[in-house]
Amino acid sequence: MAATQSSSEPLRPDRRLRDAGLFIRQAFQTFRATGAVAPSGPALAHALNRFVDDRTDPAAPITILEAGSGTGPVSRAIAAHMREGDTLDMVEPNAQFVEYLHTLLKTDPDLSGVADRTTVHEALVTDLGTDRRYDVIISGLPFANFTADEVRAIMEYYFTVLRPGGHLSFFGYLYTKQVKAVIAPREDYLRQARSSWVVDEWVNRYGVGTERILPNIPPAWIHHLRKPEEWSATL
Ligand SMILES: C[S@@+](CC[C@H](N)C(=O)[O-])C[C@H]1O[C@@H](n2cnc3c(N)ncnc32)[C@H](O)[C@@H]1O
Repeated sequence: MAATQSSSEPLRPDRRLRDAGLFIRQAFQTFRATGAVAPSGPALAHALNRFVDDRTDPAAPITILEAGSGTGPVSRAIAAHMREGDTLDMVEPNAQFVEYLHTLLKTDPDLSGVADRTTVHEALVTDLGTDRRYDVIISGLPFANFTADEVRAIMEYYFTVLRPGGHLSFFGYLYTKQVKAVIAPREDYLRQARSSWVVDEWVNRYGVGTERILPNIPPAWIHHLRKPEEWSATL
């Protein structure tokens, strides 16, 4: 039987190494989809939960979608912030990560506590269908690696399945555009510039908060967006 550790403690070094090892191997094989060199650290993972904590009705359970769960550092934090009756859908297309997430649902102290209210979907998030509704979406998708059209389609999907007044929190890494301007081929730099303009349009229109998380590898930003009561896909 796998050893457990008590809830809300920092991840044990052997577990952190195991998560990071799987993540880095997959990052080498599928960098465009994985889009990072290491799993998110605890400061970033917890900061993404601002609107899991901050609810209009503290007594009402909420529905949460996590897109791009990877090896589950953000999923573990979500589980630690969930309250009675909350439900979580985790979506991840990488089969190796999905297998690992199923193991975490049995062995991780936070995730095992919400396993009966959590579903893992092996899929691209936009393939989940539009007949779902969420109060909070936490996205780990690597927008910097996507085209502008892909980012737009994903943002429209998020806002379609978010309830009016619901929140989307997503992150990226600081200075990637500046680094790419120096080291990346011109086409790749321009692609990223175009996709970041799409992100900026959504942030300018619906943003309700931005944070910088420096204790993360690499340092990250988070944007929090709110879906207005009246919304149609106009961008
Ligand atoms: C930057 S990693 C983040 C992983 C994890 N959330 C973390 O913070 O360490 C991005 C993850 O998104 C997944 N992903 C990429 N494209 C996706 C898509 N269209 N739908 C759902 N997940 C996707 C990748 O397989 C990868 O696990």
